Amino acid sequence: MSEDIKKTINELHIYEKKVLKELEANPDVTPEEIAENQNMDIKAVMSAAGSLASKDIIEVEKDVEEEISLSDAGLKFAQEKLPERRILDVLVDKKEIHMKDLSDETGVDKKEANIAIGWLRRKNWAQIDKGVVKVTDVGADSKDKLGEDEELLNHLTEAGKIIKDRLSDELLDGFKKLNDRKNIINIKKNTSHSFKLLDKGEAILKEGFTIKEQATQLTHQQLKDGEWKDLQYRPYDINAEAPVIFAGKKHPLRVIIDEIREIFLNMGFSEDNGEFVESAFWNFDSLFQPQDHAAREMQDTFYLKNPLTCDLPDMDLVKLTAETHETGADTGSIGWQYDWSEDIARQSVLRTHTTGISTKHLYNHEPPIKMFSVGRVFRRETFDYKHLPEFHQVEGLVCDEGISYQNLLGTLKEFYKKLGFEVRFRPAYFPYTYLSTETEIYLEEKESWIELGGAGMFRPEVLKPLGINQPALAFGLGIERLAMIRYDVEDIRMLYKSDIKWLRELPIDRGVRL
Ligand code: DAH
Repeated sequence: MSEDIKKTINELHIYEKKVLKELEANPDVTPEEIAENQNMDIKAVMSAAGSLASKDIIEVEKDVEEEISLSDAGLKFAQEKLPERRILDVLVDKKEIHMKDLSDETGVDKKEANIAIGWLRRKNWAQIDKGVVKVTDVGADSKDKLGEDEELLNHLTEAGKIIKDRLSDELLDGFKKLNDRKNIINIKKNTSHSFKLLDKGEAILKEGFTIKEQATQLTHQQLKDGEWKDLQYRPYDINAEAPVIFAGKKHPLRVIIDEIREIFLNMGFSEDNGEFVESAFWNFDSLFQPQDHAAREMQDTFYLKNPLTCDLPDMDLVKLTAETHETGADTGSIGWQYDWSEDIARQSVLRTHTTGISTKHLYNHEPPIKMFSVGRVFRRETFDYKHLPEFHQVEGLVCDEGISYQNLLGTLKEFYKKLGFEVRFRPAYFPYTYLSTETEIYLEEKESWIELGGAGMFRPEVLKPLGINQPALAFGLGIERLAMIRYDVEDIRMLYKSDIKWLRELPIDRGVRL
């Protein structure tokens, strides 16, 4: 304990010591008195007290006092008496006064006289009968008897100011009533602080300390002439609270996207980009998805009115694609056996996946190819904690002689490992790949496998019409799920909500880079 106290004393700032000394001399000393006695700024006193309080050495209490005083209007009433009193004084002699003469007879100005009539009736001092103000018995009796409000007015005039807490309930009620009359009194809030020594503070004072100027910054001169040897230094308190600073940083989703791009670029992939608006031809037909495929239905795909259609590519490619869909052409398959429609292929859609970028890339490039692309895709999903109508995918494509399914698994494994995830593969089906797989990750907390994306070897029905004779592996992986797992987000909407608290507090060391 005593060691602790010594250490605490060592770390006290000179201002803190001054405040403690003052409290030792007078436990009821006010901050203002400390400031005066110690020749300190009041702000310095308060900040030293705050620091002492944060170390449980003293307690800082805040007292709010309400001070009641007369307003200018109140002062005027107190001096001249209340208007209804001034009228009553005349009325008691005259017994009755016609309303229209009221102001002239009593010297109370017209506007005030009107209000005074209200009060005369309320106090039952007078009655109005056919435009004539007549004094009542109560009025006559009240001639020399001050009402409660008048007494309060006098009271306040004498006292100047009254602290609300010190008023009896009865008086307080009276003041409230008085204040019903257009702001006769002012209520001012005064905040004051008082300090109380806590046990630790007592122990510090018992241990004792001297107040000596401490060096916080050394000057060149002090170093040169050796004065530094005699200076007293205050140790740093490395546990002291510091203000929290929220640095500007990238959005976590952006961070993960950039990280993914970096990984693929480092693995020797080049980046390509597609368009949000794409023809059904590239989004579906080039991927050997039959034109009556469920994924094309309105429930899944956003079809556009503007532009309603897209241009088709080179007619040779269109023809070959049509033939492959209808009969399989020379791909070794019998196709889907239906009449392929150019109109359906022309429809414009918001791309439902990034895989159309792979087929377009194959059509426009010669193998060897290693391409990746990151982008938004669109599906008609209802918003909920795990679905959004827009999300991101990363598409990858490798095409060259000798490329195999093993290369596909190896590439995916490597990619996820670099991101910090361990994955497993599950057989799957896509109309455009064979073999096909889905990658999954195991989530401890959920005790279940989560699907991350699809992949496979493009079928000859995809490759042949594009003029590709080498094998190609391809994959399309969701990005939001990865972000949710990494940032521990239960609800996918969090990634798009711009929740400033969450964004600020997200630790930078979990991949969020400045
Ligand atoms: N396009 C698929 C999806 O959005 C994922 C996918 C599967 C992409 C297989 C591919 C692939 O490139 O070969 O779910």
